[in-house]
Amino acid sequence: MKKIHKFNLVCMAVVIMCGGSLRVSAQQLKAENIDEVVKAMTLEEKCHMVLGRGMHYNDDDKFPGTAGSTFFVDRLGIPETYCADSQQGLRMNAKRAWDHRDYYPTDFVASMTLASTWDREAAFKVGQGIGNEVREFGLDWILSPAMNLIRNPLCGRNHEYYSEDPYLSGTIGAGYVKGVQSEGTAACPKHFVANNQETNRNNNISQVSQRALREIYLKAFEIMVKESDPWTIMTSYNKLNGPYAVQNYELLTTIVRDEWGWKGMYVSDWNAGDDAVAAMLAGNDMLQPGQDKQYQAILEAAKSGKLPMEVLDANVKRILEYVVKTNNFKKAGHSCGKPCCVPMCSAENLKAHAQVVREVGADGIVLLKNSGILPLGSEKIKVKGEKFKVALFGCTSYDWISGGSGFGGTSVGHYTVSLIEGLRAAGYEVYKPLIATYTQHLAAEEKRLFPNGRPPFSLMPPARADEKQFTADELNAAIEGSDVAIISLGRKSGEAADRSENDFYLKEGEAQLIKAVSEAYHAKGKQVIVLLDICSPIDVASWQDQIDALVCTWQGGQESGVSVADVLSGKVNPSGKLPMTFQIKYGDAYADKNFPANVDDKTLGAMFMWGYDKDKAPKERQPQKDIDFTNYEEDIYVGYRYFDSFGKPVAYPFGFGLSYTTFAYDNLTCSVDGDIITVTVDVKNTGKRAGRNVVELFVAAPNSKKLNKPEKELRNYAKTRLLQPGEEETVTMKVSTEDLASFNEKASAWKTDAGTYTFMICSSANDVETKTTAKVKAWSKKVNNVMKPNVKLNLLKR
Ligand code: BGC
Repeated sequence: MKKIHKFNLVCMAVVIMCGGSLRVSAQQLKAENIDEVVKAMTLEEKCHMVLGRGMHYNDDDKFPGTAGSTFFVDRLGIPETYCADSQQGLRMNAKRAWDHRDYYPTDFVASMTLASTWDREAAFKVGQGIGNEVREFGLDWILSPAMNLIRNPLCGRNHEYYSEDPYLSGTIGAGYVKGVQSEGTAACPKHFVANNQETNRNNNISQVSQRALREIYLKAFEIMVKESDPWTIMTSYNKLNGPYAVQNYELLTTIVRDEWGWKGMYVSDWNAGDDAVAAMLAGNDMLQPGQDKQYQAILEAAKSGKLPMEVLDANVKRILEYVVKTNNFKKAGHSCGKPCCVPMCSAENLKAHAQVVREVGADGIVLLKNSGILPLGSEKIKVKGEKFKVALFGCTSYDWISGGSGFGGTSVGHYTVSLIEGLRAAGYEVYKPLIATYTQHLAAEEKRLFPNGRPPFSLMPPARADEKQFTADELNAAIEGSDVAIISLGRKSGEAADRSENDFYLKEGEAQLIKAVSEAYHAKGKQVIVLLDICSPIDVASWQDQIDALVCTWQGGQESGVSVADVLSGKVNPSGKLPMTFQIKYGDAYADKNFPANVDDKTLGAMFMWGYDKDKAPKERQPQKDIDFTNYEEDIYVGYRYFDSFGKPVAYPFGFGLSYTTFAYDNLTCSVDGDIITVTVDVKNTGKRAGRNVVELFVAAPNSKKLNKPEKELRNYAKTRLLQPGEEETVTMKVSTEDLASFNEKASAWKTDAGTYTFMICSSANDVETKTTAKVKAWSKKVNNVMKPNVKLNLLKR
């Protein structure tokens, strides 16, 4: 577990020693005088500046329940600045001791929901809403977006991440960062990088080829950095090709600062790494939440010259460059602008943000299968003016999951609109006897699972109730009392633990429930819909033939119930597309060969300790595959790049998602002007309902098989406006020659081969709608030959 450091006391002492009364200085921090302020700082102040001030989990902290803050030096006008998690909203206690007010932030949508919108504007709006609340509540810095690649469906933090594709991840991440920073709040994309599993997250070494690192894992961050210029980046817990990411000069300085030109401030993940001086030397400017031993180590190294003063000064300078942009430095504060009043987000803004959650939550829902039953009952309700009755099965229908667990979830007491509430508000009648049955069932399960009550906060997702099974009589009564059955399935995960292979499949009780309800409803000529309230893909292939419609709702934050009802009712025409592949079985993806899918609880528990307290690990322990090191043998063939290039069937491909209308594509053009390729296509709504459509542009390189390149790769995408039936929009997308490059390890260069490339407009990685070709010029760019894996990897090739 995280330690809450007593570090604050030390900081206070230094402030008293060096501050106000003893060393009054005329020098006050301004954006223009950072170099002079660095010069005016004492060595001790510098050593404190590069460390956080502990976590703020006590009742009497200024912002209880938040991740931390930065060091302040009153005499130089350097204020304390405050940070908090997460990508789904401001994680902070809503109640404070001796304060009658509530501080409820908005529970926005999970990242996976956001990515499923394939809408950069939606990402901006969510980022802006969160950035606004951080500022209005008096803080400066949000520790998000989390944007590691979805390499495996079992990673415990997938719901915090965007996609298996670096372009989609990078562009959605960029939209979010721009939104956050448009409010004067610092964003902090994380966890940099190749932090794709939670098992032994503090010590595992990701062993990745230079090519996969450049083309896949770094690429997502590179796109985001270049498009949105985040003020800060969080380095990850894991080691990468040897050293800890947080202590890796080649990664942090050579690639990101020297090659990409990024000038912001790095902060470590909380207690990451094991050598504070190495982190400073690597260019990692700030270590959070800060430890006494780190302070001593940095101070001694600075005194002995092991840590050159110019390096420490550069770290401090980058921190001050962040500080001068913050709300607390600018005293920007909340919108009322009165310095004396308590920072609080206005009711008006919270209301506007709730609307964003509702809309983005609905736009991120992915319709996977539809017999025609959806939209639900609109004819009965609207045409005949009758009630449409739904029977809700599955514990999740009554215990909706709005987001993940751990520090990546908000879940700090804010409401979640339930499915029942959402459906009722949309005009549906919810079959009552099941509400009573499930209320009792859930209460009994709660007692069974938590005989001593639930723990107040745990990193691990709490155990969920087993499914209730029904007698034939109970089912017949439900069929009598409803027009349709809706079964909800839920999965919740969070940081510090991955899901197990079992969790990918239905539990016995879930499978029995689906079978029994489907058989009974079908026997009476009625249909069954399944909602997937999940944190990451699960098996659907083995059971979806039994049901009539399948809707992946993901986890949509506080307005979930209304967002789901908006889509089921047809108020919103679904336009979400999968940001990752739904594989048929666990093990189908090549990356599954190297992932800790079946680690027993005892080992997991022990690793938790090794992570934070390595000295207590048994000495005789040998490094174990997928726990101590993970070989990324699939190389660049992550997600659809594998299934598509090797002709493997999937349950649902990357980019898939149905609509209540249909779209046709026409007049595809592709023109090359120097290094820029412009693609245009007409998209027409050919169905009967208004809807938005995602236009996916994949590109195939010539001789891809011979050159060991993926069959095709996502190079751009666009989302149309709401098109009325018959209405058309011309969509324009640009790709540069550089965007088509692969990384050539031998030459240590990005290279685009000259030749005829195929530009495809797709409705998923498996569905090419129309295509054309264009001749592309050769392009190349040499980069540093760094980040070599220090083991020989047995890499997959086409
Ligand atoms: C998580 C980060 C988070 C940090 C601060 C760590 O355990 O990995 O994502 O920002 O804690 O709470």
